[in-house]
Amino acid sequence: MTLGGANPAISVRDLVVGFGDHTVLDRLSLDVRSGEILGVVGASGGGKSVFLRTMIGLVPKRSGQVVLLGTDLDRASDADLRGLERRWGVLFQHGALFSSLTVRQNVQFPMREYLGISQRLMDEVTLAKLEMVGLGPDDLDKFPSELSGGMTKRVALARALALDPEIVFLDEPTSGLDPISAGEFDELIRTLQTTLKLTVFMVTHDLDSLRTICDRIAVLSDGRIVTVGPLAAMYESDHPWVKSYFGGERASLHFSAAAATEV
Ligand SMILES: Nc1ncnc2c1ncn2[C@@H]1O[C@H](COP(=O)(O)OP(=O)(O)O)[C@@H](O)[C@H]1O
Ligand SMILES: [Mg+2]
Repeated sequence: MTLGGANPAISVRDLVVGFGDHTVLDRLSLDVRSGEILGVVGASGGGKSVFLRTMIGLVPKRSGQVVLLGTDLDRASDADLRGLERRWGVLFQHGALFSSLTVRQNVQFPMREYLGISQRLMDEVTLAKLEMVGLGPDDLDKFPSELSGGMTKRVALARALALDPEIVFLDEPTSGLDPISAGEFDELIRTLQTTLKLTVFMVTHDLDSLRTICDRIAVLSDGRIVTVGPLAAMYESDHPWVKSYFGGERASLHFSAAAATEV
């Protein structure tokens, strides 16, 4: 894949975000290349979700620059921002779906907000999105309480794709899933990313996801991205957190198994 020459889909420079006395992100900089799956890892409570939420305008920043799809968020008009909001989709870490709404209503939520199209057309688009994520017409009128964990994530992904976004933000999409469902979900993300040419920003703790679907990995530590690169670069890092995470026993078990099957 040739990614080098393209403008980054996301460009973040010297981002500072905090709450009261607590500085969470401290001059964080990162580029996400157009068309890549970037995995973001870091200690729990380290600011990964805050970072994601800041990029989509849900958390105010103190300083720094966020450029999404060529638009500097600080320089954009309200109309520009609203236009931009249609070009990304998000799967949040918690509360993936509205519990009082059916699958159909959940997936149609962003359509109602941003598209002035008929109910019939929304129903058609909804079915197409559900098919993309491996669900069907029988699931349309179910409530979230009737869905398995894996199905819930799939519906949330369908909702994230509702407006045909260019960027998808995923916050720990496979957490809480059993390994088989998580693996299937990873595969789905990769397939959709390839066919729809998405840029994917994915926060994850899942070593399998990092190994199997991420083009590059960015490590957030002490409020900054301390290392970014392909998996191989993680082994070469001298950063203590990166060393312990990727050199840990759990990690080496995964990676040695992968190496053995790839020979
Ligand atoms: N709205 C908020 N108000 C105050 N502190 C917050 C808020 N959101 C997150 N934080 C704090 O920011 C830090 C980073 O949180 P978070 O981004 O959720 O971590 P991660 O996703 O890496 O586990 C935590 O200390 C958390 O308590
Ligand atoms: Mg989080």
